Amino acid sequence: MKILAIETSCDDTCVSIMEEGEDIRFLSSVISSQVEVHRQWGGVYPTLAKREHQRNLVPVLKKALKEAGLLKEGNSQKDVSKILEREKELSKKLSSFLSSYSKPDVDFLAVTVGPGLDPSLWAGINFTKALAFAWDIPVIPVNHIKAHFLAPLILEGGKFPAVSMLASGGHTQLIVSESLDDHRVIGKTRDDAAGECFDKSARIIGLDYPGGPEIAKLAKKETDRKVKLPRPMIGTDDYDFSFSGLKTAVLYTWRNEKDKSEEFKIAMAKEIQEAITEVLIEKTFKAVDEFGAKTVIIGGGVSANLNLREKVKNRADDLKIILPGFDFSTDNAKMIAVTAAYEKDKTKTLNWKTLKADPNLKIN
Ligand code: KG4
Ligand code: ZN
Repeated sequence: MKILAIETSCDDTCVSIMEEGEDIRFLSSVISSQVEVHRQWGGVYPTLAKREHQRNLVPVLKKALKEAGLLKEGNSQKDVSKILEREKELSKKLSSFLSSYSKPDVDFLAVTVGPGLDPSLWAGINFTKALAFAWDIPVIPVNHIKAHFLAPLILEGGKFPAVSMLASGGHTQLIVSESLDDHRVIGKTRDDAAGECFDKSARIIGLDYPGGPEIAKLAKKETDRKVKLPRPMIGTDDYDFSFSGLKTAVLYTWRNEKDKSEEFKIAMAKEIQEAITEVLIEKTFKAVDEFGAKTVIIGGGVSANLNLREKVKNRADDLKIILPGFDFSTDNAKMIAVTAAYEKDKTKTLNWKTLKADPNLKIN
């Protein structure tokens, strides 16, 4: 059984093809990043993201099929112009693709339907609708957040209860799973996401976008300078986060310093990284204790942070820790394919006509 999965919820255009037999095998996974396009804005600009998805989807699909050995010349032309009537460029590209290649040997399509940026989600969904119609195959709708933790749990065989901490540019959530089918969000950010705080703080101190890796790189350097920033909500009774106050503290600390030397910048980077990771870790392990977790999963772009990873390893003595590789912690379509394979018999596989985006989709 083969699934072709499509993910466009934020700024990465991703297609992966997965084969499930005795075990799971990825035949291909292609990601086209838009980092360069959004750099000047210091964050993801939704209408630009949509336009880029529309441009990239067909080339990414073609590459994924080719890598999987499933791209065959022929013709699967059907008139998709009605489905893509509001996506002229995509419509043209896909029509040309469909007139050059025949229907590939895949059994299901899967697509992220939420949560995410509405324009971005729709680009992937409309594209999937057109493919489902042209190739006449069913579509499995997938929740992006669920995919971030369910796929690692499935692939690595996590024990329950499991606590997942997901931190990216768009979300910061703590989730408790009692089984592969029972998940509950116990906490989330009340304002900015953790990655957004990295990005905005980086911009304030004059670093490039995306800010997380830039701050991490600078924080590796040595300095005797010290700066103190707050750890918002670190001791509160709940599992919620708040990062906008930290961003404001970064702004004032930066503004109030007359001598913006390299030393000061390094001290700021170290403290920003420390403040964000400490809050994330503290709340994660508070949940681990309270729920008696046996597995901890760290996901989302921020989980690429080595300081955070080290801290998790140090705290989790007798726990199973799942720290997905870089290709799995940032957005990708492999996690969408794995989740779709697991859910295909539980979810009613949808007729493409009823698919729609839900930017605020919940996990249950
Ligand atoms: O999951 P992701 O690739 O995209 C979404 O936001 O959905 O996450 C991107 C976020 C950005 O905010 C980026 O600054 C942050 O992850 N990030 C990091 C690191 N690498 C990426 N944050 C801290 N340390 C890193 N090494
Ligand atoms: Zn994500």
